[in-house]
Order: sequence, then structure tokens, then C-alpha cells
Amino acid sequence: MRKLYGVIGDPVGHSMSPVMHNDLFNFYGMDRQYFPFHVKPMDLEDAVKGFKAIGAAGFNVTVPHKTQIIPLLDKVDHLAEAIGAVNTVVNENGLLIGYNTDGRGFVRGLLDRLPAITEKKTLIIGAGGAAKAIYFSLAEAGLKEIDICNRTAARAEELAKGCPFAVQSAILGMEEAGKSCDQYDLIIQTTSIGMSPDIDGTPLPFSALKEGCFVSDIIYNPLETRLLSEAARLGAATQNGIDMFVYQGALAFEKWTGIFPDTARMKGNVLKQLG
Ligand code: ATR
Repeated sequence: MRKLYGVIGDPVGHSMSPVMHNDLFNFYGMDRQYFPFHVKPMDLEDAVKGFKAIGAAGFNVTVPHKTQIIPLLDKVDHLAEAIGAVNTVVNENGLLIGYNTDGRGFVRGLLDRLPAITEKKTLIIGAGGAAKAIYFSLAEAGLKEIDICNRTAARAEELAKGCPFAVQSAILGMEEAGKSCDQYDLIIQTTSIGMSPDIDGTPLPFSALKEGCFVSDIIYNPLETRLLSEAARLGAATQNGIDMFVYQGALAFEKWTGIFPDTARMKGNVLKQLG
């Protein structure tokens, strides 16, 4: 019988996951199909019960359901539980198990470009859900020094306190971080600033970067934020958010099928969808 997959979100129409996963199922000759499902917050519990009742094989979870879904699942992986967000669900013999592949996806995408990361002195800009997934996953991967700057300092402090892995962190204000940007080997931008046309600009003005600095922005639309173009102008190597999106999908696909898919193919597919 054909296996059913999907993504639930509100909204969900813009999601690139259906085309990306259906292309992979096709490419690997698997009789499986992936659909977008528009689920409103008030219907989340019914939707999860429905997926279970019909024996759906797995699904992705996107905004605004990543946290609210946790108590509705049978089991949640330790990293997803610590992050407090699930983006991938696997139906394992009738039990719905939740995982978070966002942060680990970011790390895998980063390792593609920067093979040795554990010694990198790192700055994360932002302290929301995406920053938390990335911070915890970088700490899990063995990074020892990850500073955070955020508009609301208390949120950054809270984030660092909740991390289950040993890591050292200074919490900085935006202005302070802008001035000390030249001390970091790796800078990761996780806020929505730079996502045009709504929120243009850069969260962190800087005039100097350390030699060999690597700057990653999790935004992929536009492909180059102002922060990335500024960093490139100062000589840094840069990465946009496509790798994180592709690798979170690749890790979900691996959980569902046991196959780690062709990420170059996925990336080509996503770029095509972005036009
Ligand atoms: P996500 O799940 O995408 O990370 P989020 O949890 O709402 O979304 O987090 C948004 C992040 O972007 C936060 O770090 C937020 O800063 P605050 O914690 O101070 O709210 C940051 N952010 C959003 N809009 C911002 C703005 N205009 N200026 C500075 N930071 C902003």
C-alpha cells in the first residue's frame, strides 16, 4: 500500500517540502507520497489523531505547531524535548515519535562547508526557536564557546541555561556584539531581519570581521541578505539558509526511509522552486 507523508502548518501553502520529498520518493523508486496539510491550531489534536488513525507513515511539522505538538505525541527524542520543538514525526509501529532535525540539519549543512567546527569561537544572532535548535545542536556537535546576542537579553540567557550540553556562553547586547564581531570564527544569523520585503536591513552592523570568518544566515529568501553581502564584502565566506532547509529535510527523509538522500539533487530542486 502506498505510504502517506505530509507537512502540517498554518499557513502551509508556501512549503517547498512536498515537491522536494515527492521528487526523492520518485527518484528512489518508492511508492510513497507527501502532501501539504493546512491545520489550524484549534485542529492540531484532531489532525494528529487522524494521522495516527489512518496509519500515515510520517510528517513534518512547521509553524505554529512545533511546540504544541509535543504533548500529543507518544514519544519525543531527547534533543527535540530539550529544544522544545518537533519538526519531524515518524510512525513507528503505530506510535508517533517526534524529532527535531532543524538544528542537526544546520550542523550537517555547516560541516559541508566547514569540516572542523569544534574549535570555532561562535556568535549566534537571535534567541528564538531557530537559534535554540542551532545552539543545542552545535553544543551537541562539540562546540565549546557559543556566544549569543539578542535584542532581548533575558531570552538569550534563558536559552543558554536550558542547554543539556556543556558549553560556554557570553550574552551580549546587539551593539556590543557588533563591536566585537572581529573576534569570532563563525557568526550565525537566526532572526527574521533581512527577509525582504517585510524586514530589510541587518540585525548587526559590523565594520570588521576576523580573517577566515565564516558567516551563515538561515534566511534563504532572499538568497543573499544584506548581512551576507556585507560579510562577503569584508572577505568572509558565506552561506545562506538553503543548506539548513535541505539537510533538515534529508535527515527527516533518512528517518522515514533509512536512506540518506542526495542533497545536491535536493538543493537543485529547492533553487528551482525559489525561481
Ligand atoms: P524563530 O522560531 O524563527 O526563531 P522566534 O522564536 O519568534 O522565531 O524568534 C525571533 C528572533 O528574531 C528573536 O531572537 C527576536 O528577538 P527578541 O527575542 O528580542 O524578540 C528576533 N527578532 C525579530 N524581529 C526583530 C527585530 N525587529 N529586531 C531585532 N530582533 C528581532
